[in-house]
Amino acid sequence: MAYAAFRSIGAYVPSKILTNEDLSTMVDTTDEWITKRTGIKERHIAAENEFTSDMGTFAAELAIERSGIAKGDIDMVICATISPDYFCMPSTATIIATKLGLGNVTSFDISAACTGFVYILSIAKAFIESGMKKNILIIGAEKLSAITDYTDRSTCILFGDGAGAAVISATENKDEAIIDVHTGSDGAYADLLMTPNGGSGSTHDSLSQEASSCFMQMKGNETFKVAVRTLTKDVVEILQENNIQSSQIKHFVPHQANYRIIKAVGDALKLKDEQVVLTVEKYGNTSGASIPMAINDIYEQGTLKKGELMLLDAFGGGLTWGSALVPFSPLK
Ligand code: UT7
Repeated sequence: MAYAAFRSIGAYVPSKILTNEDLSTMVDTTDEWITKRTGIKERHIAAENEFTSDMGTFAAELAIERSGIAKGDIDMVICATISPDYFCMPSTATIIATKLGLGNVTSFDISAACTGFVYILSIAKAFIESGMKKNILIIGAEKLSAITDYTDRSTCILFGDGAGAAVISATENKDEAIIDVHTGSDGAYADLLMTPNGGSGSTHDSLSQEASSCFMQMKGNETFKVAVRTLTKDVVEILQENNIQSSQIKHFVPHQANYRIIKAVGDALKLKDEQVVLTVEKYGNTSGASIPMAINDIYEQGTLKKGELMLLDAFGGGLTWGSALVPFSPLK
């Protein structure tokens, strides 16, 4: 049987920085409020002519180079994004595949908001274990600044731009394999976090009249409570089902939405500070890109080593959630 191994990681962060101080000149907020309530100090913002696919391509180039797998051997590209280059088509994954020069590959996007990277990890795992594909490029890429309302202080302080990518490939060695991936959703909470307009429910008139029709809206406080409850339950379950103790987790890599959510889940699992990967302070919430960007950070710091076990945990619009137990299994 083929197993799926997490071979490599790459990320891209745009150069422009938007600080809490900058935001305090745009809306009625302060650095103190944002820091205390979220842990965010700054976020990166893509240039106007920089597309989600551009950021995804940079991240993917790095991930492929570090994987030791030839571009010509990549047989599928999946991109998780809620800020695609184009509203309906073509998919951002297809654009990235072409920018990378991959030729004829299966490519598509998925929409699972901040849980997107965990979802595409589960899809890659399933395709590899079924024997249908061998080397899959997965990308979380977001230009959230394009769908953020910079007059709404309850959301504009949270979001940033960036991309992360990984190569998942087939192995016969079970020790290298992704152990498990959980994914879930509940549309009963759809209205907590959404872009309410711009889809098939919108009239042509409303679309042309409302410039803000595609911006994100969030009921932050209610989302916060469901996030803590769901994330904690999900990680406890995945550890129990796989008979793994939280002390065996070398790197807990949660979706970076809010320091207080991460702390609550980390405390519930009795994790030590050095087990918890934190990037929310410098990148803010980059939705589907946040987990691979965080993994890339520990990789580039030299603290992610071959064989070490990562626990991924995400939560986002939908509502969606997911977790994964992933050993880092580079080929080189
Ligand atoms: O990534 C996908 C999932 N997303 C999440 O998990 C995000 C979850 N939610 C959160 O992280 C938090 O709920 C927020 C950071 C968004 C908000 O923090 P909070 O502690 O839940 O604040 P709140 O919404 O309950 O608002 C408290 C007060 C309100 O004022 P009043 O009604 O008490 O007078 C808000 O109007 O803070 C006010 N407020 C602000 N004040 C200064 C809201 N945003 C701001 C702001 N600056 N930017």
